[in-house]
Formats: sequence, C-alpha cells, structure tokens
Amino acid sequence: MEKLQTLKVDIPQKNAYSYDILIGENLLSQAEGLIKKYTKANKFLVVTNETVAKLYRSSLKIQNAAWVVLKDGEEYKNYDMLKVIIDAAVAHRLERKDCIIAFGGGVIGDMAGFAAASYMRGVDFIQIPTTLLAQVDSSVGGKVGINHEHGKNMIGAFYQPKVVLADISVLKTLDLRQLKTGLAEVLKYALIERTCGCEKNFKFFNYLKKYKDEIYKLEPDILSELIQICCTLKACVVNQDEREKGLRAILNFGHTYGHVIETLTNYTVFTHGEAVAMGMKMALKLSYLKGLIEESYYKKSLDLIEQYKLIDKIPSFDKERFYDEMFLDKKSQNGKLRFVLPNGLYTVKITADVTKEQIFQSLDV
Ligand code: NAD
Ligand code: GLY
Repeated sequence: MEKLQTLKVDIPQKNAYSYDILIGENLLSQAEGLIKKYTKANKFLVVTNETVAKLYRSSLKIQNAAWVVLKDGEEYKNYDMLKVIIDAAVAHRLERKDCIIAFGGGVIGDMAGFAAASYMRGVDFIQIPTTLLAQVDSSVGGKVGINHEHGKNMIGAFYQPKVVLADISVLKTLDLRQLKTGLAEVLKYALIERTCGCEKNFKFFNYLKKYKDEIYKLEPDILSELIQICCTLKACVVNQDEREKGLRAILNFGHTYGHVIETLTNYTVFTHGEAVAMGMKMALKLSYLKGLIEESYYKKSLDLIEQYKLIDKIPSFDKERFYDEMFLDKKSQNGKLRFVLPNGLYTVKITADVTKEQIFQSLDV
C-alpha cells in the first residue's frame, strides 16, 4: 500500500451556546427594543404566513425589515418556499451579520430557521412563535427544516435562535383545535418529566390536572407558567443532548405512532397534536401490555388525556399497513423500531424490545 498521509483538522470546541426565552403579554409591541439586545443586525427579514400577517403584521414594527408572507399550511413547508425566503433575503441584500425572524407557528419557525442556517452559511435567527405548540416546543432546541415528499422534516439542521420571544397575547386568536394541538405536546412533558433530568420537580402532571380550566381560559399567569415549565423541561433535555444522540429522543414520546397516523391520513384528517395524543395513548397501552407500568398509572394517564378532550375517537387502522409504515419513519434504526415507553411515574425509556403482536394490540386503545 502506498504511504498514507494523515493530516488532522482540529477545530476547537465551540463555546457553550445559550439564549433567552422571553415569555409575557404584549411582547410584539416591544419586540424591536427586545430584539436589539440580542443581535447586531442592521437588516431583518421577517418570515410569516398569510394568516399571521393578517392578524399581527401591524403589531410587529421593526425598522429595516423586509417581509416575506408565505401561504399557510404544512404542505408549504418545502423547497419552493425555502427558495422564496432565500430569494427575499437576497433581494433585501441581507448580509452575514443580519437576521431572519420567524413570526408564526412551527411551520414558519422550522422553515425560516433552515433558511437562516443556510443563507450565507448562517445568519442570526430569532423566533417569535405564535402558536402554543411553537411556544412550548418547536421554537426551542434548534431543530429546523423542511419536508421532503418522502418524509416529514427530512431536510434540516440544528440551528439555535439568538432569542425566543413568546407573546402569550397572540394565543387568543388560535382556534380551539390549534390550542389542543399545542396541549398534546404540553401533556407529553407531564408524562416524561422525570426523565428530562431537571433539578426542579414541577409535578407537572398534577399541575395540568389542577389548572385545566384556567389553561383553556388562557389565564395569563397560568399560561406563562405553563410555557415556562415546558421550555425548562425541553431545555434540560436539549442541554444534555442537542443532536439527539440519545436522550433527546424522549421528546418524541407518542410520535412513533403519531407520525404514522399523520402519514396514513395524508396530513389532512388530524392535526399533529391529535396524532400525538393518539400516539401517547397507544404508547401507554404498549407499556402496560409489557408490564412496564402499573394499571393505576396507565389509567390515570389515559384519564388526563381524556380530560383535555384532545381527540374524539381513534379510528381503526389497517394494522399491517400501520406496522409497515412505522419502519419508514426516521426514528427506526437498523431496521428496528424504537419506542419511547413509560416505565414508571412520569418516566420513560427508549426501547426496541417490542413484538409485532404487542404493537398490534396497542393500536386498540
Ligand atoms: P402551524 O405553524 O401550521 O400553525 C397552525 C395554524 O395556526 C396555522 O394555520 C397558522 O397560520 C395558525 N396560526 C399561527 N399563529 C396564530 C395565531 N396567533 N392566531 C391564529 N392562528 C395562528 O402549526 P404548529 O402546530 O404551530 O406547528 C407544527 C409544525 O411544527 C410542524 O411542521 C412540525 O413538524 C413542527 N414542529 C417542529 C418542532 C421542532 O422542534 N422544530 C417540534 C414540534 C413540531
Ligand atoms: N420536538 C422534538 C425535538 O425537539 O427534539
């Protein structure tokens, strides 16, 4: 063999990265002042959709900002819209130190974040999430991306924002179904709390039982606290495992089933949260069948999901098709399905030790 020359590229570890999440009422009107503390950008590109622009464009005033207003819907989280955003950045002559702002729900956040990560190999990025789902989950943690026709979120990056501005006042215009889709992710945190590794014990399950009515009434103090708890739990997980080498997968509790439900129904029948709520019930049943949780915990967890009325009725799926579809999801590894399963009070574990028969049984919940 010829002599092999080996050189080393030795990039020093990046400094630890941290950012603030600001949660409060009427933040949009103060956004410009708040944002300036976190970026030195001269120019901004605000990415939003038609629905959010109609409701809130006049409330978010930022100097030197161009706006790109996209069509509303998961079906637009694609290459074409990414190109629209990048073209707008070029037209507005955004430079490396400038900033892209995501102003909308998870679809806009994921897409604008990916544009920020890739335009000029990365410009500043700020999240102004406007749905409950985006405020408790998608705006935090840096997963950004777009869908491919063969898979959800298949093209993406990890790219953290400079700051997240969660204005709870804008949640008043969410319709009930969109509020519930966020609440499904909120309930998820209650069932995984003890595995997140936070020092503080929020007793979030009991909190959600106690304050259901206040949450549905969007009571500001409770809502702020709820978002704060969810973001703290998510941050604890992301701090330990940004790139999802292990622990971060627990945030996908209910999603192994949920993504299949979304795919089998062409993303048109159920919201993401409804699918996740069904998925959490199925995962709980699977745990119970495997003897990982006591009957009392199984029942009380199902009961919490029922109390929040997140779903009407779970349809009966073709089990063979459901099973096959599970393997296409990016959460399967080496041809093995991996599940996030409750294995004690508010704890979960990741396991591949599941039989086809058990999966079939878990679909009847
Ligand atoms: P979405 O962005 O489609 O928003 C839901 C609907 O609410 C849309 O019609 C939107 O126009 C509307 N809307 C937004 N703000 C509003 C407001 N204040 N008042 C009235 N209507 C408003 O959906 P979503 O549930 O926010 O997010 C789902 C997306 O998030 C999915 O694409 C999912 O893959 C992604 N996601 C990403 C992460 C992550 O970590 N990056 C986590 C969870 C979900
Ligand atoms: N929503 C899953 C994650 O952020 O990892």
